[in-house]
Amino acid sequence: MPSEVNKSEYLLKAKELGKQFPGVDSVISVLNGVDFALRPGESVSIRGESGSGKSTLLNVLSGLERADTGQLIWEGEDVTKYSLSKLAAARARFIGFVFQAYYLAPELNALENVLLGARIAGHVDTSERDRAEALLLRVGLKERIRHSSTKLSGGERQRVAVARAMINDPSLVLADEPTGNLDESTGYAVMDLLMEIAEESQKSLVLVTHNPDFAARTQRQLTLCLGKMANQDK
Ligand SMILES: Nc1ncnc2c1ncn2[C@@H]1O[C@H](COP(=O)(O)OP(=O)(O)O)[C@@H](O)[C@H]1O
Ligand SMILES: [Mg+2]
Repeated sequence: MPSEVNKSEYLLKAKELGKQFPGVDSVISVLNGVDFALRPGESVSIRGESGSGKSTLLNVLSGLERADTGQLIWEGEDVTKYSLSKLAAARARFIGFVFQAYYLAPELNALENVLLGARIAGHVDTSERDRAEALLLRVGLKERIRHSSTKLSGGERQRVAVARAMINDPSLVLADEPTGNLDESTGYAVMDLLMEIAEESQKSLVLVTHNPDFAARTQRQLTLCLGKMANQDK
């Protein structure tokens, strides 16, 4: 397959992404030709008003939703026309996701939730269990490895979600308002952890946040406005 970009140059590249949703009388154009490129190990923040399409963009970049138009390239490979199952398999290894609302399975404990990420990528063995435990130690949950996720605080749940995002050692972490449900000091602690882990394991990070302090910690700051990316340095 011809490669659109040099593998070593961009981890992810999106060109002219367009996404519409049906409205009552007409369609709502959420993404209107978004161009975006991310280098290996790079951190980028995306801000924008509520409803500006930030979550839609992350969903499209991760292949959770399909763009109507445009092109999506992961690690030099054009995945725009991949089947949903092929995309899902590739995504499980390539991307770790942290959501605002944690999305832990309530019937599972912290360790099982982290292992769920490994299960989605295919296999759970002793080495995945060891890695999951090590990640839970790394996020500061040594005493809560087998706690039911329903008995964890919001900050602890998000720490589990960070560990889950890392379990398959993805090259890219996407975080969609990861501190949006947390109080200020807990939010800062979770953000410190996320930035540290991404940096020490040389992951690329795309952070959607409303917090200007958090945005300033990333190497590049972008804004989504009227369905396009602003502050784009070419
Ligand atoms: N599945 C969907 N169906 C219809 N409209 C949607 C859907 N998802 C998002 N939207 C609309 O797209 C716009 C952008 O939403 P979203 O990406 O969630 O924005 P943000 O994350 O920036 O707050 C909003 O107007 C929202 O109502
Ligand atoms: Mg959102």
